[in-house]
Amino acid sequence: MPDTPDAIRTAALRKVYPAPGARRGAEQRPDIVALVGLDLTVGGGEFFGLLGPNGAGKTTTIGILTTRVKPTSGAASVAGADVVTNEVAVRQRIGVVPQRPNPDRSLNVRENLVFHAAYFGVARSVAARRAAALLDQLGIGDRGDAKVDQLSGGQQQRLMIARALIHEPRVIFLDEPTVGLDPQARHALWDILRELHAQGRTIIMTTHYMEEADRLCERLAIMDQGRLLALDTPQQLKTRAPGGTLVELVLDGDATAAASRARELAGVSSAEPQGSVLRVYADRGGELIPALIRTAGLEGRDVRDIHLSPPSLETLFISLTGRKLD
Ligand SMILES: Nc1ncnc2c1ncn2[C@@H]1O[C@H](COP(=O)(O)OP(=O)(O)OP(=O)(O)O)[C@@H](O)[C@H]1O
Ligand SMILES: [Mg+2]
Repeated sequence: MPDTPDAIRTAALRKVYPAPGARRGAEQRPDIVALVGLDLTVGGGEFFGLLGPNGAGKTTTIGILTTRVKPTSGAASVAGADVVTNEVAVRQRIGVVPQRPNPDRSLNVRENLVFHAAYFGVARSVAARRAAALLDQLGIGDRGDAKVDQLSGGQQQRLMIARALIHEPRVIFLDEPTVGLDPQARHALWDILRELHAQGRTIIMTTHYMEEADRLCERLAIMDQGRLLALDTPQQLKTRAPGGTLVELVLDGDATAAASRARELAGVSSAEPQGSVLRVYADRGGELIPALIRTAGLEGRDVRDIHLSPPSLETLFISLTGRKLD
């Protein structure tokens, strides 16, 4: 990992939130451990993803790295500045797109950008020029005079991105930036993020969409219940998905007997029945299909449908947690 000033580093980062509704005399509920002890390094210029289900600790991690949330213990630095002792420097060097858009609704679109830039010491004339260029680039160049409430959800999200960029930060944090966007707006946002990455900025994005993480991120941390379960390139993570390709055969009756036979076939790492569906994991799934059809036939079953799924982040996540991501 190159030791660039853009790198993010965390060491044994821990966050405990007090139990909700803790009052004297009330029944004591346990505190919420949102981060168990996170060790993470992100290199300058990386496109890095935090992937995990609800409550994994993604927003808490982003909150600490962006100085909005105080860590309980451990250390974290962003672009070389400590998030606790050097908060002002961290804020200068980062742009943040929060999970819920929080523009100033009393201002119009352009003013949102110019006021935000002023907070970081950017001269008004410079900010106005940058605002116009950013709004153009984000496809809302004609909405500068609009009130925020006149924007669609996708347009508000773009305004949040423009705001995150107006002071030209080195590191950009985006917390679930594509939630609630239609596919067209989502793909437009992907293009924008790829462009920012091509400009050399460090991007840290959280998501619970496997496909998004897979397609955009150079490296991914898979989180669950405040812990890092795996960290690697999407490609490497997928090869770690156990058992290879998933072959699902829909039979014309119960799959139990066919599953027992399928387990005997060379190349099959597991075969489980679920009602009339036979689920087989195999290294080279496609090549096994004729043998699987014959195996089902020996138990008097016809195959009505076949579905092949290559190893994926989804199959890896299921193997790591025993649960589906969504
Ligand atoms: N301000 C808070 N006070 C108390 N508990 C909190 C607070 N913020 C988060 N938590 C709890 O900490 C845990 C981690 O939450 P966090 O928001 O970091 O997860 P997340 O991965 O971003 O989830 P999501 O996908 O739902 O956004 C959850 O159990 C959550 O309920
Ligand atoms: Mg979150």
